[in-house]
Amino acid sequence: MEVSFVLNGDAVTVTAPSTYTLLDWLREDRKLCATKEGCNEGDCGACTVMVSDADGPKALNACILFLPQLHGKSVRTVEGISGPDGSLHPVQEAMITHHGSQCGFCTPGIVASMTVAHMQGRTDHDDVLAGNLCRCTGYAPIIKAADAAAAAPVPAWLHDPLPEVSATPFAPETLDALAQWYAAHPDATLVAGATDVGLWVTKQLRDLPDMAFLNRCEELRKITVAADHIHIGAMATMADVLAAVQTAHPSYAAMIRRYGSEQVRNAATIGGNIANGSPIGDNPPALIALDATLHLRHGSKTRDLPIADFFLDYGKQDRAAGELVTGVTIPKAAPALRCYKISKRFDQDISAVCGCFNIAIKDGDIAAARIAFGGMAGIPKRASAVEAALIGQPWTQTVIDAACASFADDFTPLSDMRASASYRMDIAQNLLRRYFAALNGIETNVLAVSS
Ligand SMILES: Cc1cc2nc3c(=O)[nH]c(=O)nc-3n(C[C@H](O)[C@H](O)[C@H](O)COP(=O)(O)OP(=O)(O)OC[C@H]3O[C@@H](n4cnc5c(N)ncnc54)[C@H](O)[C@@H]3O)c2cc1C
Ligand code: FES
Ligand code: FES
Repeated sequence: MEVSFVLNGDAVTVTAPSTYTLLDWLREDRKLCATKEGCNEGDCGACTVMVSDADGPKALNACILFLPQLHGKSVRTVEGISGPDGSLHPVQEAMITHHGSQCGFCTPGIVASMTVAHMQGRTDHDDVLAGNLCRCTGYAPIIKAADAAAAAPVPAWLHDPLPEVSATPFAPETLDALAQWYAAHPDATLVAGATDVGLWVTKQLRDLPDMAFLNRCEELRKITVAADHIHIGAMATMADVLAAVQTAHPSYAAMIRRYGSEQVRNAATIGGNIANGSPIGDNPPALIALDATLHLRHGSKTRDLPIADFFLDYGKQDRAAGELVTGVTIPKAAPALRCYKISKRFDQDISAVCGCFNIAIKDGDIAAARIAFGGMAGIPKRASAVEAALIGQPWTQTVIDAACASFADDFTPLSDMRASASYRMDIAQNLLRRYFAALNGIETNVLAVSS
């Protein structure tokens, strides 16, 4: 495939296999070796680079970024973050002044993340750097450096023009073209954010002969906020979704804030998180609790279904070969929605259990209940027996405690490296109790309780 983008201010055109990662290309072909390889699976941030498009700069992990995803964009590695005359960027100066680096292996990725945040005027350094692991400096000097650099102006050299590029067959620009292509190539691999597909290549060493990249299809990225609902296109990234649901569904947004890291949220899409059918994806339980409608398209034929019906069995979804997920629609009002993610690490971890609750109380009784869990079964699944035990009952601790027994009718969780079956069962029951406390005004937010 022939891909054109701007690298550290210079236009480049590259012919490479479609699964060639930016990290391999930088280090092996361009000998730009400052960008490091740590984990090669999106977890450590050592490979972070700045990628800009019409929406501005983003921090992304180069190890799970395929070259075709860069068509028409601009990339700055740490070599291009300092000026053409060698002058340092303010965050580089500050890292030196504040002793932000010891062995330095993590430092290029950290500087790339800090540079993007500096350009965006962000000061939420803990969130920005949660995906950059530093094993020897400790974060205090790094955060001090980020604070010290915050007021400095953005150096002029970082404002790259985007290259003019022509449309390419590997990245359809309209939904019509994409849907027709996929219907005619039903065995092809679609690449959305590549936070799953990237690992098929870097960890499983899989060949993917026929691929289409969805990132140039603007129609799929759109988010529309109407009076009573929010439509989210399949290619909306988790960063886009976080911003879109922040006001209507703050608890859902707070959970997304813990989805992977800044770099992962900038890449991973809601469509990929649904289409992969993972039992531990964070969006599906929230979307099931919200009674979201999923939109699919096969060629010119579209269909909608309640998202709960999409997940049939482990690894099996209600999606035909050649059928695209195009988006999801959620209601705007769900004041009682609460989403809880339980994972071993607070940041940058996949859920062991994810529980989402949406219960309506009328005149002291439970009028309606939608409860969904990830990590408790082979699919993201509704807790129908628990719901049935609650509906029509008074909203009391006694009823909540009694309903906990029904989790055993809904779920037979597995033990794996993330959690044991008995831990999962206990935590699911305790999340229902936590929900009861939260709706009764008791502070249950871990960060609020501990600060
Ligand atoms: C470091 C790291 C941290 C992570 N943390 C989390 C986390 O906290 N929570 C979580 O839920 N997940 C997490 N993940 C998993 C991953 O981010 C998700 O599964 C992700 O949402 C996949 O989306 P994507 O856009 O990257 O999909 P891709 O990798 O591009 O694709 C995934 C699958 O979906 C298919 N697909 C993509 N888009 C469509 C579409 N529109 N229609 C039909 N098929 C489609 C692809 O063909 C592929 O089979 C993490 C991953 C990494 C690497
Ligand atoms: S090498 Fe670890 S995130 Fe890329
Ligand atoms: S400076 Fe050594 S890992 Fe960060």
